[in-house]
Amino acid sequence: MAGKLVAILSGLALLAAGYFIGSKFGGDRSHVIVGDGSRYSAGADGSAGADNNSAAQGGRLADYARSVGASGKGNTIEVRDGESIQAAVASASAGDVIRVFPGTYRETVYIDKDDIQLSGVIIGGEWPVMEGDKKLNDAILYSGNSITVENFRIQHYKGNAVMGQAGNNFLIRNNHVIDTGVYGIFPQLGKNGLISHNVLSEIEDAAIYVGMCDNIHVSHNEVFNSVAGIEIENSRHSIVESNYVHNNTGGILVFITPGLPIKTTVDTIVRNNFVVNNNTANFAAEGSIVAGVPAGTGILNMAGDETTIEGNIISGNKNAGIIITDHMNAGNITLDPESEPNSDKVAILDNFMFDNGAEPIPEIKALKLATLTTGNVDIVNVGKSTGSCILNPKQYPTVGLGDFGTCGFTTTAQTVTYLLPEPAPKREIAKADMGKAAFHGICAGCHAYNVRMIGPPVQIIQALYMDNPEGIAAYAANPVKKRDDYPEMPPQKHLSEEIRLAAAKYLLELKN
Ligand code: HEC
Repeated sequence: MAGKLVAILSGLALLAAGYFIGSKFGGDRSHVIVGDGSRYSAGADGSAGADNNSAAQGGRLADYARSVGASGKGNTIEVRDGESIQAAVASASAGDVIRVFPGTYRETVYIDKDDIQLSGVIIGGEWPVMEGDKKLNDAILYSGNSITVENFRIQHYKGNAVMGQAGNNFLIRNNHVIDTGVYGIFPQLGKNGLISHNVLSEIEDAAIYVGMCDNIHVSHNEVFNSVAGIEIENSRHSIVESNYVHNNTGGILVFITPGLPIKTTVDTIVRNNFVVNNNTANFAAEGSIVAGVPAGTGILNMAGDETTIEGNIISGNKNAGIIITDHMNAGNITLDPESEPNSDKVAILDNFMFDNGAEPIPEIKALKLATLTTGNVDIVNVGKSTGSCILNPKQYPTVGLGDFGTCGFTTTAQTVTYLLPEPAPKREIAKADMGKAAFHGICAGCHAYNVRMIGPPVQIIQALYMDNPEGIAAYAANPVKKRDDYPEMPPQKHLSEEIRLAAAKYLLELKN
C-alpha cells in the first residue's frame, strides 16, 4: 500500500523545528564498521540460510528457479477466441497446460487447483488479450499451488490483473498489464515465487505488490506510469533485481504496513535496478490515502529490517533517490504494537546515484535547512535506525545518516536468489483455521486493522457489523457501492458461503 509514503513526511516538520538536531544529525559514525554480510554467505557446510536457499550459491537464476511454476506434465487444453478460459480451467487437472490463443477474452478466471499452467500463445505478434472494459474486477485469481501465468496482455480491469491468494510456488512471467484499478501483479501470502519479464503501466496503486510473502524473486520487469512501481510489504527473503522502474510516483517501496496479520519485513535485497525519473503526478483514486503520495521518490524503506540496496542506478527522482524512515515519522499511521517500527540493519552499498532531490517536498527542504545541508540530496534518513550502514558514505550527498556506520561488506552477489531448492509444501489449513486463512489470503489485501488501504479499516467494519458476521459474508459475496471516496469492492462469490462466514467471524475478532 503505497499510501504510507504520504504519511511519512508530516513528521519531518517536527525535526525541522530544530528537535534533537545536534544529537541526531550531528553525529558521524562513518568510522565504525557495521555488518559483515554473513547473512549473504554460507557456512562451509552450507547450513546458513537453510530456510532461504542462500547457501553456497553461484551461477544463474535459472538454475535455481525450477521449484516455481507448473510441471506441464499433463494434457494440453486449447482455448481459442470466443471460448472461455474459465471453462478450460474447470476441465483441467493437475499438470495440465492451458494454451490460450490470440483473441479477446472478457472474463475473470479463478484457478483453485494445483499445478496448472496458463500460457498465452503469441502468434506473429498477436497476443491473447484479457479485456476488463473497466467493468470486470479481477482478471486472474489463483489459490492453487505451483501455478504459472504467462504471455497474456491484461488490461482495463477495475481490480487486479493477477492476484494470488495463498498459493505457493507461483511463476508469473512475460505478461503485459495495462491500466488496472487496484494492483497489477499481486501475490498475497505466497511462499516461493518468481515474477519476471512483465511490463506494467498505468496501475492506480502498486504495479507489482508482494504482500505477506516469503522467498520471492522479482526480476527483469518494467514498471512505469503507475503510482507505486514495486512494493515489498510485510514479506521476508525477497530479491528485487534488474528491473526498470521509471516514471512512477514512487519507484521501489519496501515496508511494513501496520495492522496486517503478518508483522515483519525482513531481508530484502534491492539490487541492479534502474530507478529513474519517478516523478509522475499522483493519480490514485481521489480521496484515497495513496492520493497523497509525494511524487519523486526513488526507493523508500519504511520499517523494513535488513534491507540491502546495491548496484542500482538511481537518477532523476526529484524528491529523493533513497528515503529510509520509520513508522513514528508517518503521521497518519497508527502504530502496531506487534510491528517494530524502525528501519534497522539497512545497508546501502555502492549505487550509482545522480541528479536526485532537485525539488524535494517542503518537509525535506526544512530538514536540510535545519541540518545546514546545502545542494541536492540523494539519500534521506528520518528516524532512528540501529545497525545500519553505508559503503563509501562520501560518494553521495545525504542527510540524516549520522547514525550509519560504514558497511563491512561490499556485495550480496553470492546470494543468487531466495527461491527454494524444492517447491514449498501446500498450505494445509485445518478447518478451525479456515477463517483466518481466508482473511489473511484474501481480505487483508485490501483491509488492514486500523489503516486505510484499498478498503476501509477492519475497525470500521467491526463497528458497522458488530454481531453480524452473516452480514459481512453476504456483503462480500455481493458488494454494493457504499462510499464515494473508495473504489468498489470486488465480489468474493467464488468463495463458498462457509469460507466467507468464517472470514467474517475472524475479522470481527481481530484486535490488531
Ligand atoms: C481488492 C480489494 C478488496 C478485497 C480483497 C476485499 N475487500 Fe472488502 N472492501 C473493499 C473496498 C474498496 C470497500 C469499500 C466499498 C465501498 O464502500 O463502496 C470494501 C468494503 C467492505 C466492507 C464494508 C461494507 C459496508 O457495509 O460498509 C466489508 C464488510 C468488507 N469489505 C468485507 C470484506 C471481506 C470479508 C473480504 C474478504 C473475503 C474483503 N472485504 C475483501 C475492498 C476489498
